[in-house]
Amino acid sequence: MRMPIMVANNLNWAASRLYLGGSGVDELDAGASPGGISIDSLAKARLLIVTGKGGVGKTTICGALSLAAQRAGKRVLLVEVGTKENISALFGADPLGYDPKPLTDGIDGMLLDPYLALQEYMVGQIKIKAVVRFVVENNVFRYLVGVAPGWRELITLGKIWVMEGLTRGKRDTRPLYDLVVVDAPATGHGISFLKVPKVVLDVLKFGPIKHYTKMVQGLLLDEKRTRLLIVSLPEEMPVNEALEIYHASRDFLKIPLGPLLLNCMYPALGGPGLESTLKKLERGNGPKLPSNSKELINANALKAAARAYQERRRVQLESAQRLESEVDLNVVHIPYVFTNRFDLDTLKRISGFVGGPFDAGEEDSG
Ligand SMILES: Nc1ncnc2c1ncn2[C@@H]1O[C@H](COP(=O)(O)OP(=O)(O)OP(=O)(O)O)[C@@H](O)[C@H]1O
Ligand SMILES: [Mg+2]
Repeated sequence: MRMPIMVANNLNWAASRLYLGGSGVDELDAGASPGGISIDSLAKARLLIVTGKGGVGKTTICGALSLAAQRAGKRVLLVEVGTKENISALFGADPLGYDPKPLTDGIDGMLLDPYLALQEYMVGQIKIKAVVRFVVENNVFRYLVGVAPGWRELITLGKIWVMEGLTRGKRDTRPLYDLVVVDAPATGHGISFLKVPKVVLDVLKFGPIKHYTKMVQGLLLDEKRTRLLIVSLPEEMPVNEALEIYHASRDFLKIPLGPLLLNCMYPALGGPGLESTLKKLERGNGPKLPSNSKELINANALKAAARAYQERRRVQLESAQRLESEVDLNVVHIPYVFTNRFDLDTLKRISGFVGGPFDAGEEDSG
């Protein structure tokens, strides 16, 4: 069922309405604990919104989370928000479009392009597809909607709400997807992306926009259905941004937070044995190095690399500690994977590290 909604006041012509449809609340048990969110509550979530600074691994983590959920028997929809997508390559699948299509067994993917969401709405309203396409693809139109604040976020969140509420059929009211994973825009945009419903609700006194924004916000704030997952790298700037969105979410947005994912942690290279060997090598009384000069240079380079690796790991652990001491959340460490080919197998390996939250709610921990 589709319902009309008025969108951003500034769009005073063709784009003045969008649809939001789908069902309302579902009947999940509360899995969250007050304050920090227990890690196993992810097993019951229906919407995961993944955010973080640009390049921290949001898309990778979304893929890994989807695989973990699929292993736990869930039907997953992976949504990349924007006009370009990176997900299909990770799965070795065909490029994604606006309509969901399989990435692999049990996981569909879609590229949520806000302009296409707007077009979809307008087709629903105006009925003549060719006219709508002409208008939406027109540069002047794109400029006008490009400068209108809020519509993109609202229509994107509206479409996510629609997808979360889809049922398998008219009579079969079971959800089409057990879990929707959203690869949200990078943090700077991510905060404004998630802020719009609250701002709209604060500003508007009444009317259809208020009514339907309330439905979208109802999903975002629902502890039984939604988790915001922040991804960070164990480095100063990404940690700063992660803390920023953590505080914004806890104090202002009020979107229930899930575990924080600290991506690209260097795995321990070796135990105390390695450390003492490195020290001996540096003092020149370690194991004999090859006498051939070329190999000697390589051996020295390797020694320096091992030292740099250890140092990098030490700094990473400091960042991790800083994050852990400031957030009241589980912080899940995800290792840096050293590989020449970042493919589905790599993604499966990473999914083993994010799978705990799903497995915790299942009989079989896979
Ligand atoms: N755990 C990991 N180990 C090794 N490489 C990783 C890991 N996670 C991500 N990467 C690599 O880091 C790069 C950035 O990852 P990704 O594209 O997932 O980040 P993103 O946050 O989605 O970026 P953007 O903000 O540009 O969308 C990619 O080359 C990816 O293969
Ligand atoms: Mg990405």
